[in-house]
Amino acid sequence: MSSASAKTIEIRVLRYRPEQESEPVWQSYSVPYTDDMSVLQGLQYIKDEMDGSLSFRWSCRMAICGSCGMMVNGKPHLSCQTFLRDLLPGPVRIEALQHFPIERDLIVDVGQFVRKLESVKPWLIPKEKRDLSQGEYLQTPHELERFEQFSSCINCMLCYSACPQFGLDSDFIGPGVLALLHRYNADSRDGGAAERMPALNAAEGVWSCAAVGYCSEVCPKHVDPANAVNQNKVNSARDYFLRFLMPRGGRE
Ligand code: FES
Repeated sequence: MSSASAKTIEIRVLRYRPEQESEPVWQSYSVPYTDDMSVLQGLQYIKDEMDGSLSFRWSCRMAICGSCGMMVNGKPHLSCQTFLRDLLPGPVRIEALQHFPIERDLIVDVGQFVRKLESVKPWLIPKEKRDLSQGEYLQTPHELERFEQFSSCINCMLCYSACPQFGLDSDFIGPGVLALLHRYNADSRDGGAAERMPALNAAEGVWSCAAVGYCSEVCPKHVDPANAVNQNKVNSARDYFLRFLMPRGGRE
């Protein structure tokens, strides 16, 4: 890009370098841009041409890996999917995803999120053992439809930044993990719902959700985690009454 003739936009980044700042500070950059540039490309220009110390995560640049989430003008966005031309005339304010501890600049600590994700066993726990000679697990289109939407989650955590309940209580299991929990419970091949129920029914589980619904608005893959949360609430209530009516699971 020839910076001499290019249009420019002001990008303000909330910087945090723990070795030199006790709290985040704003830093402003005047960045040459073209109409096809994403916010991520604007940050890459800053890093390559202006200030190599700026830190942020990215990988795929096509809204698949989920690593480039950040606050853009106060809302959670994938920076590779958000275009500077839509933010004119600027300035564009970029911050780390809110509600998460900041490690450095736009990089947040994802450790707690990963631990929550692992706690719900986000993988298929087969209902019955089959060997290869029995062939594939077959599903009807209707069975696929029950979970397909939720399997589009890319773990970008935008929904956590949008969630006021997570902002109040970081132990809340949160919309993304609940969507993935439901993705497996709703799969006709899966038999692991009972193993996931303790996480669902816990004090920080599904009933902590305040049903605001902003999680679904910001989801870049249209997973609709609020819908998964509602279905989880139905399943949790059903589990409670079944345990009340049949405390030993109907077994003698
Ligand atoms: Fe992979 Fe944006 S870089 S989702």
